[in-house]
Amino acid sequence: MTLPRVVAIANSKGGVGKSTLATNLAVEGALGGLSVLLVDTDPQASSAVFAATRDENRPAFRLIQMSQPILHREIPKLSEPYDLVILDTGARENKTFRSALAAADSVLVPITPSAYDIWASEDVFTLVDEIGTTRNLETRVVLNQVIPRTRVAREALEALEELTDEFGAELMNTRIHSRVAWKMAIGKGLSVTEFEPGGSAASELRALWLELGYVGSL
Ligand SMILES: Nc1ncnc2c1ncn2[C@@H]1O[C@H](COP(=O)(O)OP(=O)(O)O)[C@@H](O)[C@H]1O
Ligand SMILES: [Mg+2]
Repeated sequence: MTLPRVVAIANSKGGVGKSTLATNLAVEGALGGLSVLLVDTDPQASSAVFAATRDENRPAFRLIQMSQPILHREIPKLSEPYDLVILDTGARENKTFRSALAAADSVLVPITPSAYDIWASEDVFTLVDEIGTTRNLETRVVLNQVIPRTRVAREALEALEELTDEFGAELMNTRIHSRVAWKMAIGKGLSVTEFEPGGSAASELRALWLELGYVGSL
């Protein structure tokens, strides 16, 4: 039996797109025929609201809310029937956040491309480093909310390179741009691929999904 993949979408900074990516990746997995468990660990419950908004006739994933620091104990027990488990984390660096990282076998860190936000994200890398030293916790960074048709500022990329080098994280080739579709789809309980299959946001989500390689890892 193949073990399920447990990925934590994490950044101690708020508003970087954790819930947006967690919900979209959960749907993408469901569309691809995977059984997906999405765990909302944030009391703000963005992923839970998304799941509640979603039309029940669409490809489904299972959603549970668990915002106590029991994830590292409970997730291994719960995850068995699933191909993919996604943990949507909250923005605070607290016990639940640590517990989510301890439950994960990989971490996806969405970062917005300003040097300020990149510096503010440093603590998530420090935590992953602490928790990951005993295990091989694969850490990947995806740039989100990049402004279309603009270059990411050189100082932002330099700050990011410094961080990823220091902590052995990988910067993903796929970049997610700031697009209305990412905002609109969420409110309808849809992924961007369902909302506008031929759109640019949909291409980005598919590219992210392929680069993450969750399908090939099964
Ligand atoms: N690529 C994007 N393009 C446009 N808006 C985005 C994008 N990613 C996230 N957002 C918006 O940014 C806000 C914060 O996103 P959210 O996923 O809730 O962040 P977090 O979970 O990290 O706090 C939301 O209003 C969301 O719709
Ligand atoms: Mg969130």
